[in-house]
Amino acid sequence: MYIELITTPNDALKESGFGSLTACNSVLNSIRRLGYSGKLCLCRTKEDLDEVVKRKPKLVILAVKYIPVKNEENIWLSEYFAQHGINFTGSSKEVLKFDSNKVLAKAHLANKGIKTADYFIAIPEQYSSKSELPVAFPLFLKPLDAANGNGIDDLSYVTNFNDYKSKVASLYSEFNQPVLVEEYLDGREYTVAINVKEDGELIASPVEIIPPTSTNGLRILGAQTKKDDSEKLVRIDDSELKNRIIKLAIDTFNTLGARDFGRIDIITNEAGKCFFMEANLVPGMTQGTSYFPHACNIAHDFSYDKVIELLLTGGLARVISTLPPNRCSGSDNKFVTAL
Ligand SMILES: Nc1ncnc2c1ncn2[C@@H]1O[C@H](COP(=O)(O)OP(=O)(O)O)[C@@H](O)[C@H]1O
Ligand SMILES: [Mg+2]
Repeated sequence: MYIELITTPNDALKESGFGSLTACNSVLNSIRRLGYSGKLCLCRTKEDLDEVVKRKPKLVILAVKYIPVKNEENIWLSEYFAQHGINFTGSSKEVLKFDSNKVLAKAHLANKGIKTADYFIAIPEQYSSKSELPVAFPLFLKPLDAANGNGIDDLSYVTNFNDYKSKVASLYSEFNQPVLVEEYLDGREYTVAINVKEDGELIASPVEIIPPTSTNGLRILGAQTKKDDSEKLVRIDDSELKNRIIKLAIDTFNTLGARDFGRIDIITNEAGKCFFMEANLVPGMTQGTSYFPHACNIAHDFSYDKVIELLLTGGLARVISTLPPNRCSGSDNKFVTAL
């Protein structure tokens, strides 16, 4: 079966998807080891995508959400391939927007009863004193739509109005977007990799992430920590907590309408209550460092190849399901909770 892996030069993008070309090549090598013929396509333009369509792959694996086109709107790959009748991995454009825009996800989930930190969005000068702020200090400030810890550092944690004003100003000028201001949650953090099995059942791989303590005594997964790779991923031993984390991640995945795979970040407060933090629906796939394959390995002892096999499972089931019914063994995600 012929499969293409689609990416774009993404070093300058705020959201990098599976990761660099190295990450994409690791995915491709696994695909080949699994016995499929595969090609990596570095697409820059709509014409590049048109060429992919002409080659009629049975499945395209989308390593990025969209291709930026100069002076035009981004081309969202899931939308483009859906329009051209090509089977693709991952979620639809509408659902991927929940990954790109944290407030969209938080509002949608809060509306469906899923807990997330209290928040508001702010631009400079919008509030003139502490008493006007919709949520009380301590607060945590971050970009609305960045990833990989960009814009996040010790100054994201603010306890007074002056520090609040200066972090809002710096994030606003760097990202040209209103700033997401959240209630600061002082517990621990977790991430859950989610895969789908052939029968549609979900497999959850939860882990705790422990960032190093900064000179200010904070544990934050900011850009520097991620670059230095100095955080630790560890198995969750407390089974009651683990089950609550898995349940929140799977409820989130289903409530967002995500498909095939995704990584859900969760944070707790001091009392141990779990809150949705963000959804990564095109998660990093760098062999050896990315959270997604690492979490699958810690939680289930899955090899990198096994993780990639699971990554393809939903898409391959859709290929099979286009065959006559007597040969149809695949189905869409059934969204069954797998504990
Ligand atoms: N409300 C919050 N309270 C405490 N820490 C937070 C909060 N929101 C984010 N963080 C810290 O900032 C990190 C990055 O936030 P996140 O929303 O996951 O952004 P990114 O997309 O950059 O990963 C988290 O992993 C966590 O360490
Ligand atoms: Mg995150």
